[in-house]
Amino acid sequence: MWWEDGVVYQVYPFSFQDGNGDGIGDLPGVIDRLDYPAETLGVDAVWLSPFYRSPMDDFGYDVADYCDVDPIFGSLGDAERLIAEAHRRGLRVILDFVPNHSSSEHPWFVASRSSRSNPKRDWYTWRDPAPGGGPPNNWLSVFGGPAWEWDEATGQYYLHSFLASQPDLNWRNPEVRRAMYDAMRFWLDRGADGFRFDVVHYVMKDPGLRDDPVVEASGPGVFKDLGEYDSLVHLHDKGHPDVHEVLREIRRVVDAYPGRYTVGEIHVLEPAALAAYYGRSEGDGLHMPFNFTLLYAPWEAAEFRRRVDEFDAVVPAHGWPNYVLGNHDEPRLATRFGPGRARVAMMLLLTLRGTPTIYYGDELGLPEVEIPPERQQDPWGLRVPGLGRDGCRTPMPWDRSANAGFCPEGVEPWLPQGPAAAERSVAAQLEDPSSMLNLVRHLLRLRRREPALHRGEYRALDEAPEGCYAFLRSVADGGPGFVVALNFTDRELEVPGVGGEVVADTGMHRVGERAGPVLALGPDEGVVVAV
Ligand code: GLC
Ligand code: CA
Repeated sequence: MWWEDGVVYQVYPFSFQDGNGDGIGDLPGVIDRLDYPAETLGVDAVWLSPFYRSPMDDFGYDVADYCDVDPIFGSLGDAERLIAEAHRRGLRVILDFVPNHSSSEHPWFVASRSSRSNPKRDWYTWRDPAPGGGPPNNWLSVFGGPAWEWDEATGQYYLHSFLASQPDLNWRNPEVRRAMYDAMRFWLDRGADGFRFDVVHYVMKDPGLRDDPVVEASGPGVFKDLGEYDSLVHLHDKGHPDVHEVLREIRRVVDAYPGRYTVGEIHVLEPAALAAYYGRSEGDGLHMPFNFTLLYAPWEAAEFRRRVDEFDAVVPAHGWPNYVLGNHDEPRLATRFGPGRARVAMMLLLTLRGTPTIYYGDELGLPEVEIPPERQQDPWGLRVPGLGRDGCRTPMPWDRSANAGFCPEGVEPWLPQGPAAAERSVAAQLEDPSSMLNLVRHLLRLRRREPALHRGEYRALDEAPEGCYAFLRSVADGGPGFVVALNFTDRELEVPGVGGEVVADTGMHRVGERAGPVLALGPDEGVVVAV
């Protein structure tokens, strides 16, 4: 299926292209730029972060109407035109669906909080104070502070895993499920090719709302350091096993429409636990849970190999792996690893067995942008200093014109673009044969052309010296195979037993070279050899 062979490109609508000159990206802007993902890159699908009606407290992840477009981004007609224009170019459109919480301005919540006897009261999680007073349990909000907000008018607390203006919907109520499935069908009927489900493992919590255990000893952090939130083991406030029943239902809704794709944002790093989200058999879970293991990996060949091998081994036969190196919640790839290593990482992403999802701008090597305090916008960063996500959400640089072509001259973009936007822009990189953008385009073409790369087997090579991660991609029916050799060190390395023609290299100067019988790798260099 296309989501196995293909590549997904994430577009953050706030920052892709401003179409009406207010300094904020919008859907008409995205439509104007569709040739870029479709032709310049040649990816198979775009995933758009939310563009629904929203007060934008969490930049669209606080939805006030699941079936309409926020005026900042355009109109429902623009969304329909975007889907049509993408399809005309052979590009699929995956929408972001936010099931766990709505905005507190959603009419459902407005009704729910209006009185204890309102029919929508139970659409959210309301509880009396604990016996001694205070919140009903010890759960914490990801964005800082308790996960409970006191409602003076009705004398109860409501649950919010994120901001207080993002109350958690009660998925144990069948009416809620029906309403959410209707919203999904609204978009499927309009041609959406699938959904990325926002923090979907949060929808099911412990029905008894038991306290989360307190972390005893701080072990090695699995994800980034989340501050106070890390003081609890998040055992009961998300990921209750009943979530799999919900995913089964979601899948049934989506499978009524052929060829659609579902991927869940699920922050679980333990490979077997993550793999459970594929379900027990075809159609029983999501098509894929996002696999974030490489996002948090230290830059060591052995560690990357271990994480890929482990994940590859636990993906069930009816499933298909996937890999992620960046998104709108994480520091930019090029800043996490450095610009040279970002190329090596991109080569890995685009040659592994599994669907790659590329975050817009990572193909340009955009760095994390330093945002001056007075321009910071992300509520997380404003509440927990250091955890702001604005730096990876900055406007896309397209060319050397004013504001790098993102918005008109004289208009201030909603976030600063960062230094050297013109030189990093799409236009500038297209002119430079050895640019990161041209490397990514080359790898995307190679992946599309070669069955071994888009659907072949994967086997790590034990012959690779320390500091090098090398693997073979091959197809059983005898087509060409490829060795991908990645030097994670700043020293020269030699990989024995690899001979053939170089078909890609991170420096963009070795293609066509005969390599072997020992493959020489420069510092921070990655090479793909047809063997
Ligand atoms: C997900 C989104 C993130 C958002 C959060 C709450 O993690 O990716 O951007 O803030 O959910 O909806
Ligand atoms: Ca705009």
